[in-house]
Amino acid sequence: MCGIVGYIGKEQAAPFLLDGMSKLEYRGYDSAGIAVMEGSKIRLEKCVGRLDALRAKIAGDMPVGTIGIGHTRWATHGRPCDRNSHPHADESGKFVVVHNGIIENYLVIKEELLAKGHVFLSETDTEVVSHLMAELWDGDFESTVKKILKVIKGSYSLVFMTEHEPGKIICTKKDNPLVIGLGEGENFIASDIPAIISRTRRTFIMSDGEIATVTADGVWVQDINGTPISKKVFVVNWNAEAAEKGGFEHFMLKEIYEQPKAIRDTMTGRVDKENETITFPELNWTSEGMAQINKIFIVACGTAYHAGIVGKYYLEQLARVPVEVDIASEFRYRSPLIDSNTLCIVISQSGETSDTLAALREAKKLGARTLGVTNVVGSAVAREADQVVYTYAGPEIAVASTKAYTTQILAMLMLAIYVGRLRNTLAEDRAKELVRGLGMVPEQVHELLENVDQIKVFARQYASCEDAFFLGRSLDYAVALEGALKLKEISYIHAEAYAAGELKHGTLALIVEGVPVIVLATQSDVYDKTVSNLQEVKAREAVVIAIGFVGDENLKKYADSVIYIPKTDKYIAPLMAVLPLQLLAYYAALTRGCDVDKPRNLAKSVTVE
Ligand code: M6R
Repeated sequence: MCGIVGYIGKEQAAPFLLDGMSKLEYRGYDSAGIAVMEGSKIRLEKCVGRLDALRAKIAGDMPVGTIGIGHTRWATHGRPCDRNSHPHADESGKFVVVHNGIIENYLVIKEELLAKGHVFLSETDTEVVSHLMAELWDGDFESTVKKILKVIKGSYSLVFMTEHEPGKIICTKKDNPLVIGLGEGENFIASDIPAIISRTRRTFIMSDGEIATVTADGVWVQDINGTPISKKVFVVNWNAEAAEKGGFEHFMLKEIYEQPKAIRDTMTGRVDKENETITFPELNWTSEGMAQINKIFIVACGTAYHAGIVGKYYLEQLARVPVEVDIASEFRYRSPLIDSNTLCIVISQSGETSDTLAALREAKKLGARTLGVTNVVGSAVAREADQVVYTYAGPEIAVASTKAYTTQILAMLMLAIYVGRLRNTLAEDRAKELVRGLGMVPEQVHELLENVDQIKVFARQYASCEDAFFLGRSLDYAVALEGALKLKEISYIHAEAYAAGELKHGTLALIVEGVPVIVLATQSDVYDKTVSNLQEVKAREAVVIAIGFVGDENLKKYADSVIYIPKTDKYIAPLMAVLPLQLLAYYAALTRGCDVDKPRNLAKSVTVE
């Protein structure tokens, strides 16, 4: 997730670009850069760090010109550094591009371009596009862009400039946002509306596959076959703050709704739908290497720890390796039994959590192989672990983790399938079945998030309660832990999660009339047992909300209410079962008037012990 801006008109471009980029820093802040047409030459200025670093770099020597593009980066391919910052150019500097997304086939394209003599300066996937532009240039800007689109695969918003046709900017998109702002004698391009509303409120949203040619006097949209497309212009009436949250009331809600995309992006390059396999090019593990691993530790804090518990079920069941999951602040002081056949996986959204980092260092010191699963490229975890698997959730602003969690459990499932195949503990047909199931997840998650009225009603109904309980068995238990954490951290309702079979060993004493109990029932192998536990709490007059698969009419017989999630494989169910829990917590907190994005006493990144 990066921020893109573009300007073409009568005013100086650079001040608008910098201002627009400042409104998009929530989309990425690893590095920033602009390209401005100075006379007939493109001047490129970029550097690592926040936007202020770029401002300082060009202070007193701002690029002069009325056409330009800019970018704030959230690194995906290549660590944050000057060279990897956008915009990217070809070696002549005449073709320039900014990009948000992932070019999946960039390695193949890069090899071909290298063979043709192109010289690459960065480690990014994006740079292939600027070189492709030079390679495919046929004297016509639009035609060249269409040729590029026939070569690249993946997800993108792309904005192009060239010295050969200096009076226009061309942009296009697939699976990533792009809006056009319309002014008088000037026009604007941006990833998101906050970047442009200080200058215009007349906008339209680009759709996938559309190509817009933007000049100072107008915007023309066409598809790849040259068919003109007429766009419906609308007037934005959000204020700047609401615009930054994409019209959502809170970042947390926005991030909940970003999950289909976060999931899709995290699968990119790993879920091979054609061959129905999982690949991890960044790991390149072998069967021999994996056969040597006789123990896995998963170490993390908070929500990431809960993702680790889901990961334990996956790795033990699919890859048949014993797994211990540890809270990082415990692991670091408890002299864990580790040797060189141990793999230690640390999970951290930020990659900077103090205890998680200390645990990683401890595991390395004791001789384990280490793998970081993190959302932040170039973070401490990414730098210090032997190998890294990135989740591509994009920046998470709300303290309560949502999209980071779903992408973490997705990463763990993909990893377990990958390792299971390498160790030959997972049959090929079963792996294929799981891969097919994964392919449907973004759409199913989207569908679930479109039907949340019932969840809102429950949240309001139970917002005044003092306690709530979450029950489940197996993977449902792991998800229940996360549901309880979400509820307590943002709504301040006391919430506990229990393995459903454990309840009667003490906690059942707390179940009295009217206490809300959320029972997850998505795991077929323990379903009947879970339903029995559900009946036990119902018999104590708890109010039971069950979460199960669409079509499970049986649950209606026992629970007071049922929230249905789309039918999927039991291993994929956590990716969907957690969504109602996130929403329940969100709407309960809202009803109670809590500060949802900044819950009391908590910080987004815990960099102290
Ligand atoms: O950045 P990390 O994933 O290492 O953070 C770990 C926890 O602090 C974090 O998951 C925390 O529990 C969540 N913000 C809670 O929603």
